[in-house]
Amino acid sequence: MQSDTDDISPLAWPRPLAVVVLAAGRGTRMRSALPKVLHPVGGLAMVGHVLAAARRLAPARLVVVVGAGGVAVAEAVQSLAPGTVVAEQAEPRGTGHAVQCAAGALAGFEGDLLVLYGDVPLITAETLARLADPRLPDGSLPPVRVLGFETPEPGGYGRLVTAPDGTLARIVEARDATTRERAITACNSGVMAGDAATVLRLLARLTPDNDQGELYLTDAVGLARDEGLDAVAVMGAMAETLGINDRAELARAEAGFQDRARLAAMRGGATLTAPQTVFLAHDTVLGRDVTVGPNVAFGPGVRVEDGARIEAFCHLADTAVAGGAVIGPFARLRGGCEIGRDTRIGNFVEMKAARFGERAKAAHLTYVGDAEVGAGANLGAGTVTCNYDGVDKHRTTIGPGAFIGTHASLIAPVTVGEGAYVATGTVVTRDVEPGALAIARVAQDNRQGAAARLRQAMLARQAARRAKAAG
Ligand code: UD1
Ligand code: CA
Repeated sequence: MQSDTDDISPLAWPRPLAVVVLAAGRGTRMRSALPKVLHPVGGLAMVGHVLAAARRLAPARLVVVVGAGGVAVAEAVQSLAPGTVVAEQAEPRGTGHAVQCAAGALAGFEGDLLVLYGDVPLITAETLARLADPRLPDGSLPPVRVLGFETPEPGGYGRLVTAPDGTLARIVEARDATTRERAITACNSGVMAGDAATVLRLLARLTPDNDQGELYLTDAVGLARDEGLDAVAVMGAMAETLGINDRAELARAEAGFQDRARLAAMRGGATLTAPQTVFLAHDTVLGRDVTVGPNVAFGPGVRVEDGARIEAFCHLADTAVAGGAVIGPFARLRGGCEIGRDTRIGNFVEMKAARFGERAKAAHLTYVGDAEVGAGANLGAGTVTCNYDGVDKHRTTIGPGAFIGTHASLIAPVTVGEGAYVATGTVVTRDVEPGALAIARVAQDNRQGAAARLRQAMLARQAARRAKAAG
């Protein structure tokens, strides 16, 4: 059993489902060259989290509404969730108008519509699924369902105005609300589900008669009631509906994501000695009985198998670590590393695109890049694979059981054969045959008594220099 911070198990939605993700807002408060919804949380673009949650509901159609010039967002969406339809909202005329812009992509669709937001990344599929089938006391399914939350500080959120029978009467935006309405603490998360045809028909009747002169998605509730249709609010956790508008909120979302990911890792059987100091990515997989020490960061693409240990202050990205390996403290692994079983990678070791065989060791101060290291090989302190010549990258191959002495430089492309021995300080420029000893260093010359003579000569030179400076 392994835990993955991104749960990918599907959830059933009882009718065909179309999901529309709104991502056309300008996001000016981020003050960024990068579109807001592409800012990462847990190493994945915000909109990627939303698409992942949406996809767990197995929608028949998935539409993302981007703003004018939303080319970067459209491209990212295509690579995150291939087959997603991208619709354009040329001008941001409100959330209702944004959904209208997806109508073309929903032509001929019959079933439910679910509206999500590209900048609300922590929403979970489990919570969304609660909007699928909330029944009224008479057993009927209201054609308009809204996800709400309670907060003692409702601030700028839309307020949920309840009807005497407990259903939802309408939603009023804070800026359009009366003092009495502003005192309501039940808020609109923005997430809405309902019968697709009904919602689209209601949206066609929206008018911009509000403080912002926009077409509000939220007005669909009041319009439904006018037609005698029911609407309800399903209440959820505010933590999931956090919308990101600026960098401070982005940091809050990251913190929320990390808390959730740490908990999932621990529930999956990993020990995090200081969980608050361990940073996980959206796809980090930690096996059972993996131990992670304090101050460890995982970038995307890391898998650590059962029983491996990651000591304090390591940074891992795009790396697979097999069981029984001990990594760190202070190790950095990146760029497609595969670390074998029962290996030992010690402090101040960096590896990039390296395959490191079973029981191999690099215990201190080593750089291994674009390399293949055989089982049981031992890399001494200061071993460096010289993989980059300033123009191209080259590969180093170290055979099983080879011994690389301290401070050896291996100038790639180069192969050290099985069981070979590279002497300390050797600069390896040619392949070393299996079982051979390679030694390349200047022979040592000990001159008896020369130390004192050398020191005298140097002091004399210094004295002359000082006399000259004093004039
Ligand atoms: C909206 C809700 C409010 C709710 C709040 C929750 C409306 C009218 N109000 O307010 O009731 O409490 O969310 O955070 O829906 N967007 C577009 N195109 C547009 C306008 C918005 O794609 O023309 C997208 C934005 O990118 C954003 C989302 O819709 O992701 C919400 O828009 P925003 O303007 O932030 O709505 P709020 O004022 O926060
Ligand atoms: Ca908002």
